[in-house]
Amino acid sequence: MHQLRYLIKTYGCQMNERDSEIMAGQLDQLGYQATFSEADADLIVVNTCAVRKSAEDHALGYIGQLRQVKMERPEVTIAVAGCMAQEPGTIAWLTKHAPQVDVVFGTHNLHQLPELLERAEHSDEMIVDVWQSAGEVVEHLPSRRKDGVRAFVNIIYGCDKFCTYCIVPFTRGKERSREMQPIIAEVQALARQGFQDVTVLGQNVNSYGHDLDPARDLADLLRELEKIDGIRWLRYTTSHPRDFSQKLIDTIAASNKITRHVHLPVQAGSNPILKRMNRKYTKESYLDLIARVKSRIPDASLTTDIIVGFPGESEADFEQTLELVRTVRYDAAFTFIYSAREKTPAARWEGRDPVPPQVKKDRLNRLMELQYKISLEANQALIGRQQLVLVEGVSKKSARIWAGRTQSNKVVLIDRDPAVDLLDRFVPVRITGAKTFYLSGHISGRPLEGPEVRRIALPMAN
Ligand code: 5AD
Ligand code: SF4
Repeated sequence: MHQLRYLIKTYGCQMNERDSEIMAGQLDQLGYQATFSEADADLIVVNTCAVRKSAEDHALGYIGQLRQVKMERPEVTIAVAGCMAQEPGTIAWLTKHAPQVDVVFGTHNLHQLPELLERAEHSDEMIVDVWQSAGEVVEHLPSRRKDGVRAFVNIIYGCDKFCTYCIVPFTRGKERSREMQPIIAEVQALARQGFQDVTVLGQNVNSYGHDLDPARDLADLLRELEKIDGIRWLRYTTSHPRDFSQKLIDTIAASNKITRHVHLPVQAGSNPILKRMNRKYTKESYLDLIARVKSRIPDASLTTDIIVGFPGESEADFEQTLELVRTVRYDAAFTFIYSAREKTPAARWEGRDPVPPQVKKDRLNRLMELQYKISLEANQALIGRQQLVLVEGVSKKSARIWAGRTQSNKVVLIDRDPAVDLLDRFVPVRITGAKTFYLSGHISGRPLEGPEVRRIALPMAN
């Protein structure tokens, strides 16, 4: 019998990557095999992101290319999933412009993938099954995790914050936390399989557990997870400054497993803009939080997200963002031009009071220039220090270099002896060089002894 093959193309954040792993697990159970290539795939799933227009354009471009695949092999099934599927505009667009698409499903019903494929097989029409809101949290779905020793674990779905620029509360729904026990059991199982670097995921992990009975919080959960033997590094993403508690800061400070990388998206440095973004903090309270993090966790690496060109942002507002960046001195910042998202309040303001495109670009450039200078200085300060590095692979640029990451998520390029296999190992590295986006160094000790690492070849297109 013909072996059915699938390809999952994933856009967007780690929540989407995790969803793709769950889809892959379900397809494995149906007897499919993963492939890298559209040319020999029987099923192609496009897991889309809606956070900015550019993300949508990438996915739509790829869906456009699949028309050719469908023309050559009409038996291929093409599915569109993820955050864009939750937007009504997308369904209308696909119906009109993308007849090659067979199935559309959303973020709330990916567990239905097997039935949807079954339905598509017996239908000539596009099957659209998108739930407007989430059902109960579904446990025990199969999943196929990526290669290596790093794993993602969902802890909370959705977001209740309603920042005025953001599509996520619409595409991912209300906050729903998983119970603590199944999360602990999942991480224990991961540790038994040799995973050592676990990232707990949510749109806002800092509000984990408020909806449980009894109520829990992220610090409680991390304290349980760090007890699990075999787990070396515990990460969490993504955070909201408003809910980043002192208890969590103290928990991180006392832990030798929880990452000292603190990502605190500030978005803007001007109070009127923060207010109109509905961020629920001020520049002053944010800076107070940063000061508390720095004093309790002096070696913390700090990163952030910033949006420039929010509707009505004046030059003076923007200069306050630059000022904040100079004050905090982030290790790195993810910087974005504001992108209007359907249904959000800010999209209406963008209609009335937009920042001109050229001004947006100019602000982005000025912000990046400042941040790059600070990133370089922060990295240079690490020269001479020893860091534990998880080796993730051979550098794309040279077979004589390993690429890895520190616990604080900095990329490190390490001199490689091809005779010694260090893939997926934790090695002490002396930092000898620093650039804006990475460090370089050489091995300064033996790799940590660890469980037998597991390595499977997992074709997942990215
Ligand atoms: N336009 C630009 N950037 C956005 N982000 C979220 N929504 C938008 C938008 N409409 C950015 C925020 C967020 C990151 C994941 O994406 O900075 O923290
Ligand atoms: Fe993109 Fe947000 Fe959806 Fe993640 S949750 S895929 S960032 S829109």
